[in-house]
Amino acid sequence: MSALPTRPLGDTGIEVSSIGLGTVKFGRDKGLKYPKHFNLPMDGEIVALLEEAKTLGINFIDTAPAYGTSEEQIGRLLPNRPDWIIGTKVGEEFSAEGSHFDFSGDHTRKSIERSLRRLQTDYLDLVLIHSNGDDLHILENTDCLESLMRMKEKGLIRAVGMSTKTVAGGKRTLALSDVAMVTYNSSHTEESPVIDLAQRTGKAIIVKKAMNSGHIARQSGGNKSALEFVLRKAGVSCIIIGTINPYHLRSNAYVAASFQAEHSTNPALW
Ligand SMILES: NC(=O)c1ccc[n+]([C@@H]2O[C@H](COP(=O)([O-])OP(=O)(O)OC[C@H]3O[C@@H](n4cnc5c(N)ncnc54)[C@H](OP(=O)(O)O)[C@@H]3O)[C@@H](O)[C@H]2O)c1
Repeated sequence: MSALPTRPLGDTGIEVSSIGLGTVKFGRDKGLKYPKHFNLPMDGEIVALLEEAKTLGINFIDTAPAYGTSEEQIGRLLPNRPDWIIGTKVGEEFSAEGSHFDFSGDHTRKSIERSLRRLQTDYLDLVLIHSNGDDLHILENTDCLESLMRMKEKGLIRAVGMSTKTVAGGKRTLALSDVAMVTYNSSHTEESPVIDLAQRTGKAIIVKKAMNSGHIARQSGGNKSALEFVLRKAGVSCIIIGTINPYHLRSNAYVAASFQAEHSTNPALW
């Protein structure tokens, strides 16, 4: 299989592989909606997964402070930092008591400083606001985005946006920032207008939950139909798939590479 080609992350100047690696399962096993229980991976398993990702041409890795030890593990175990596009988030914290949210400018600055330390880097390629669902309120009535913009101006962050939960929030995110991360799969197409807007305006869309958090992929060939459904949607830059299984990672990359090869002449998709 040839390595996955990269594609532009909207107008940010960043190039990402069409499949990215989601890392919730690296460091958190509580409060998630996956169909099956799983054991948190050991360091050696994460190293093997990252090596596999690199071989497949995957260059984008998605993490968050709310993903338990994920940021710290990536900082410690990811080789050759400049080869990777690292995206993290701000606003959600997860502890034994569950999630809580803080979108203040002060928390945003402290969270970014902590992410830089944990990820052992002096810049973040992408930072998304980790929405609690109140997308418009966060964008319009808190200092979170403004604070991120200031850090972008200082060169600490290359691109900013929000992981949204509403169509209005997704559209506003595209108007005010670089990237919206939206849910899109065959059981959840409600956020499609946000992707259509990005397609028209040249902004970036990252899709989360393409497999409906694994519920679609459970059927035989489920990952192929789930991924092709999203790959067919013009305007999507990258699909973040949360996996800790190297065989699943390979199979997903294979589906995407085959689809891209087959549709390489369609400029609306690539
Ligand atoms: N910002 C947000 O609010 C937010 C919310 C949710 C998710 N995310 C990000 O988006 C990523 C993806 O979301 P998600 O993990 O909820 O959903 P997902 O990517 O739709 O599904 C992941 C699940 O699918 C399974 N899977 C993956 N490939 C498979 C294959 N080829 N065959 C069978 N099963 C397969 C994984 O299990 P295995 O480990 O066994 O492969 C995992 O349990 C997350 O990791 C995270 O980085 C962000």
